[in-house]
Amino acid sequence: MTKLKDWLIAAGVLALGRGTPPPRDQKARIVAPGDPDRRAENVVLALFFLATLAGAAFIVVYALDRLSHDTQWLGLAIGAAFALLALASTVIAHRLVVTEEVVEPYPEDSPDAQEEIEQIVEESGSRFTRKRLVTVAGAGALGTLGAALLAPAASLGPVLHTGELYRAPWRRGRRLVGDDGRALSADEIEEGTFYTAYPEGADRELIGAPIVVVRLPTAEIRDRKDWAPRGIVAYSKICTHAGCAVALYRKPTFAAVQPRPALVCPCHYSTFDPADGGAVLFGPAGRPLPQLPLAIDGAGHLRAAGTFSGPVGPAWWGVRMGKARS
Ligand code: FES
Repeated sequence: MTKLKDWLIAAGVLALGRGTPPPRDQKARIVAPGDPDRRAENVVLALFFLATLAGAAFIVVYALDRLSHDTQWLGLAIGAAFALLALASTVIAHRLVVTEEVVEPYPEDSPDAQEEIEQIVEESGSRFTRKRLVTVAGAGALGTLGAALLAPAASLGPVLHTGELYRAPWRRGRRLVGDDGRALSADEIEEGTFYTAYPEGADRELIGAPIVVVRLPTAEIRDRKDWAPRGIVAYSKICTHAGCAVALYRKPTFAAVQPRPALVCPCHYSTFDPADGGAVLFGPAGRPLPQLPLAIDGAGHLRAAGTFSGPVGPAWWGVRMGKARS
């Protein structure tokens, strides 16, 4: 209990310390004055400084995001920041806070007792010679650590400049090409299989670039029939749940008992209906897979007839309010 009290008093001294306390001539001291310990103070200042550096290092490693083994570096930085702060608190408790032994338990809810505790807190800091500096250093270390803990929230997605998230490289007339860069023709798209395609001449790394193409019997298509020439439909390959690639095509092999064809994301099994505008049939995805309208040109090649039906990619705040743009 005495140790716990020392820690609480140490925290109180740092939090409430406001320079030299007003004279308490009229009151007898409760805590005997302690000798200043500048060496211990220097150690505490150095530990706070190192904790600040460790917290800042976490933010830098997180922001750079291109160091090898960055997860290990992040763990090391945040662990070091906590360890250094704990060490600083231990030095304060053992070397810089005057210990005051209480024999009787404090009476509860008594104004006198509260005043006494305030007096103990003030008097326990009598060993500090640079209380303001130690307080600023401690606040800096805690502030940096707090900022480091909040930094990963940046990965939740942009809040202000969200325009890029709605942009896709597809526009009316752009040809669909396969992995090898060859233009896809409508004739080569067969039922029961699954093709990945990209916009001709555009950056394939863009989140809106890859699409999946499948062919269905035209009579089965229930929504946007004019987006599906000869029953060929195209959807974004990026799952609307958490952004994995939609990489499976469920094709019934015995139609009497099997469910209808569906596009499936293997991460958490979100299942989308290619015959119904990419509607979610199953799984955690919160919105349909964005559909790309198709057309067939005079040479029989597949081309986009516009851009997607909705924003591509995983859900983020406000995603339902925007529209996909070319
Ligand atoms: S990312 Fe596709 S189901 Fe979760």
